[in-house]
Amino acid sequence: MLDLGSGSGEMLCTWARDYGVIGTGIDMSQLFTEQAKLRAEKLGVADQVKFIHGDAAGFVSDEKAGVAACLGATWIAGGVVGTIELLAQSLRPGGIILIGEPYWRQLPPTEDVARGCLAGSISDFLLLPELLASFGHLATTSWKWFWQTKTAGTDTRRPSGSPCADGLKPIPTTSSRKMFEPN
Ligand SMILES: C[S@@+](CC[C@H](N)C(=O)[O-])C[C@H]1O[C@@H](n2cnc3c(N)ncnc32)[C@H](O)[C@@H]1O
Repeated sequence: MLDLGSGSGEMLCTWARDYGVIGTGIDMSQLFTEQAKLRAEKLGVADQVKFIHGDAAGFVSDEKAGVAACLGATWIAGGVVGTIELLAQSLRPGGIILIGEPYWRQLPPTEDVARGCLAGSISDFLLLPELLASFGHLATTSWKWFWQTKTAGTDTRRPSGSPCADGLKPIPTTSSRKMFEPN
């Protein structure tokens, strides 16, 4: 697995522990990279994961990955489309691209409200249908959407029809799923 903008290595380390994955994370924050290495040792997976302190922009792995990910850092390749194109270069045939991207659940009425949501401006993010449409044209075999909401302090991960890894019940297929799954 390759994780661009791996932060403090939470995903790679816990997936190494829980699912036995091996992988590499790259992050330009020295602090986060150190924290990721410490996490790997703490979780007993230091022999499975490697964390590199460096710029992930333009990074293409020599060894192709089964999962190529970028969660919350798609600006490294100019947005979701560029990040998909970048990750695809490190992906082996049949692999999975995993992207984490914020979106507006409803458009903020003013720029002040957007900044109050910790965005730089309204244009930083799209509504979900627009976000999905922005890369739906890419020739990829299939897409799966997981949308995550935060309600009253509880994380809810809603997969598009498949069982949740965290044990939550699968959400039934809906018409919106069809709309968001072009292939
Ligand atoms: C919002 S955090 C997400 C971290 C992690 N993916 C997660 O989901 O917990 C964004 C991360 O991207 C890193 N980052 C930003 N620009 C980067 C770049 N050009 N190359 C590598 N990492 C970068 C930051 O240091 C930060 O750790």
